[in-house]
Amino acid sequence: MSEENKLSTDLNVEDVDTLAVAEQETEAAVRAAEATEEEGEDFLAGYDESNDEEETAAPQVADEGPVIVFDHVTKEYTDGPEDVDNQALKDVSFSINRGEFVFIVGPSGSGKSTLIRLLMREISPTTGSIYIAGTDLANLRNRQVCKYRRSIGIVFQDFRLLEDRTVFENIAFAQKVIGVPSRKITKNVSKMLSMVRLRNKYRSYPNKLSGGEQQRVALARALVNKPLILLADEPTGNLDPTNTADIMELLEDINLRGTTVVVVTHNREIVDSMQKRVITLREGVIIDDKKGGYDRG
Ligand SMILES: Nc1ncnc2c1ncn2[C@@H]1O[C@H](COP(=O)(O)OP(=O)(O)OP(=O)(O)O)[C@@H](O)[C@H]1O
Ligand SMILES: [Mg+2]
Repeated sequence: MSEENKLSTDLNVEDVDTLAVAEQETEAAVRAAEATEEEGEDFLAGYDESNDEEETAAPQVADEGPVIVFDHVTKEYTDGPEDVDNQALKDVSFSINRGEFVFIVGPSGSGKSTLIRLLMREISPTTGSIYIAGTDLANLRNRQVCKYRRSIGIVFQDFRLLEDRTVFENIAFAQKVIGVPSRKITKNVSKMLSMVRLRNKYRSYPNKLSGGEQQRVALARALVNKPLILLADEPTGNLDPTNTADIMELLEDINLRGTTVVVVTHNREIVDSMQKRVITLREGVIIDDKKGGYDRG
């Protein structure tokens, strides 16, 4: 299922009207933008507010507790063979405070993506609880799950951009679904394009971009709604060292603006050089949790 379809099926009835209105408004904004461009102007020029810290910072939430809590979480996949260990996570507990930057590392199959999918509420724990800003994810009703998913930023190894939409539209889409007015969308998308240095590519389609550029679009899309948390599952898995360093620098930047960042990676060099908190998983268990480099044990 394409991401757009997935997002659409996530929407509930009341969202549909909002979406339709936002769609019309954004199409009007894109047409206006194109018209302006035909006149030989850069429609984004009036929106160069990339240093507007207040507008791009993560939302301030009154709650002072940890932003992510795993409380004795076990995840057992029931669709595998019965004679093998199908517990992807085993009694995992940890907490992440607001504004932290955390790497999740560990061998293939150790449960990293399972942890991210649990945080996205794509799957639920078999036992134990996950709290986000004090709310137990198990208590979210269906429509609250949609809202919750839209309130976190997510980036994957394979970018997952909408291939038939331009860079601008890919980033704008996240705003359209929450009903942001078109002028505001143009302004916000413009800021994101500045942040990821893609203002000159806003009309390009994803297949005309390099891998690094595509991931920068994905990052802009994940951040345009100012999420409290950014989750990234192997965001640099398909990138060369230069683009990897570039994306990591952007993630660090985003973190400095207040967003809590959780990054799954296999990249030892990056983990060693950035000296952040590192949670190491092995066979579904946390075997290490400390600030510093990749666990070599
Ligand atoms: N949908 C699923 N159904 C059954 N078992 C699954 C499913 N997804 C993952 N698993 C199993 O759960 C375990 C953890 O998988 P997970 O994808 O979380 O690992 P990972 O650490 O992300 O690995 P990688 O580094 O290869 O991405 C593995 O043994 C895997 O085979
Ligand atoms: Mg994985």
